[in-house]
Amino acid sequence: MNPLLKSLLMKIPAVRGHFKRVEALTAERDYLKWKLDTLVREAAPDASLLERPEDGWKESKTRKRKLSEEFRGIATSTRMTSIVEPAANHLGLPTAEWIRHQVEAEPSWFQKIEVLPGLYSRGWSDPRTEKLPFYGLPDDLTDMRVLDIGCAEGFFSFEAEKRGAREVIAIDSFPDAIRRFNIVKAARQSNATAFLMNVYDLEPKRLGTFDLVLFYGVFYHLKHPQYALERIRSVCTGRLLFQAHIREEPSVKGVPWATFYPHGIMSGKDQELFDPTVFWLFNSACCLAILDHVGFIDLKIISTEPNPFVISARVPDASAGAPPDQAEAPWC
Ligand SMILES: C[S@@+](CC[C@H](N)C(=O)[O-])C[C@H]1O[C@@H](n2cnc3c(N)ncnc32)[C@H](O)[C@@H]1O
Repeated sequence: MNPLLKSLLMKIPAVRGHFKRVEALTAERDYLKWKLDTLVREAAPDASLLERPEDGWKESKTRKRKLSEEFRGIATSTRMTSIVEPAANHLGLPTAEWIRHQVEAEPSWFQKIEVLPGLYSRGWSDPRTEKLPFYGLPDDLTDMRVLDIGCAEGFFSFEAEKRGAREVIAIDSFPDAIRRFNIVKAARQSNATAFLMNVYDLEPKRLGTFDLVLFYGVFYHLKHPQYALERIRSVCTGRLLFQAHIREEPSVKGVPWATFYPHGIMSGKDQELFDPTVFWLFNSACCLAILDHVGFIDLKIISTEPNPFVISARVPDASAGAPPDQAEAPWC
């Protein structure tokens, strides 16, 4: 504005007041802009960290973001649980045909399991050949209460039942896994029982205590691995069989060491699958150290292949596993 005109206008009190208000608002706007710029700068991750090439943060972060964007694109027209197509005339089907239909209608399986003689689920992981020979499951589980954590479709639960376990309880935090477990359970007329439960929620008053705890293939999926082992220790009154993918780093051999993957890793048989649910890879020394820290003893590495890597451990004060005390109202 022309300075002469402005000085004339400033002689009018109402205009003067207006100009003052405009000046104050302008100053406040500039301050807020500066403050916002500062906050944005502070919140932005250090670009040099994202550039670290060795763990592929940048690539996995981009992949994860892309997956999320794709999902958000269809979120309002999709479902959380997979659709299982209904069978025509299912009440008239022979039982074996009904089970076959349910197995084939499931869109995805993790474990390849023999559901009925000669009928296998289409899982991409074959635990009979890839896991069972290495995972240390005892031949005789007579009288034992067994807990299978992260059971997926239940291969190890059904195997434990076959080996004489008194009771097999399985948990998994993924709802579809429980549904598929129950198809196999029905087909086999099994008494193993699966609950939708997170490992963090284990405590003696919920599912009781166990002579044998199977903790196969879950450790690296956890954001709070040490807390999970504390919960497991609280329900284990006998032995723990622990399996995890590990990552050995030659420069820190023997030192407890772990790598954090903030946005997942490539996995699958040929590293062809992006898995955003893997957070930590530990070296063998670190697995032993955490198990020791939470109170397990007699730690033995029973499979020395990096993958599968299996540890057997036990508690110092062993006692027989028992269901939760009903008088304590465990589910209240
Ligand atoms: C790699 S699969 C392993 C399945 C089976 N134990 C095996 O070795 O074949 C991991 C399973 O753990 C489950 N899982 C992951 N995080 C879990 C958690 N926090 N609590 C319970 N289950 C979990 C997944 O849903 C999945 O079924």
